[in-house]
Amino acid sequence: MSAQDVGAADEFASGEARQVRIGARTLVIVRIEDDFYVLDDRCSHEDYSLAQGEVDCEDRTIECARHGAMFDLTDGTPQSFPATRPVARYDVVVRDGRLEVTLP
Ligand code: FES
Repeated sequence: MSAQDVGAADEFASGEARQVRIGARTLVIVRIEDDFYVLDDRCSHEDYSLAQGEVDCEDRTIECARHGAMFDLTDGTPQSFPATRPVARYDVVVRDGRLEVTLP
């Protein structure tokens, strides 16, 4: 496990999804008010970036822009077809104003 700095927390706007690359890994980071969520930026249905999708701040989900599968931001589980498998999620904390994601 290693904590990776992915940027200043205040650079992320609430309700937006942003793609961040760390080494060979591509993540999607979503801020909803003061909460942050980090998932692999790859839909589990087909190889497509979730960062292109819509965030639902109330339900805490992100919708894949390709075929419409919804994923729970809190745990990466699919909430609707055509996706049936979860996407990986990662722990994230704000430390001294910086976002730190724990990667395996
Ligand atoms: S690629 Fe995401 S729902 Fe099909």
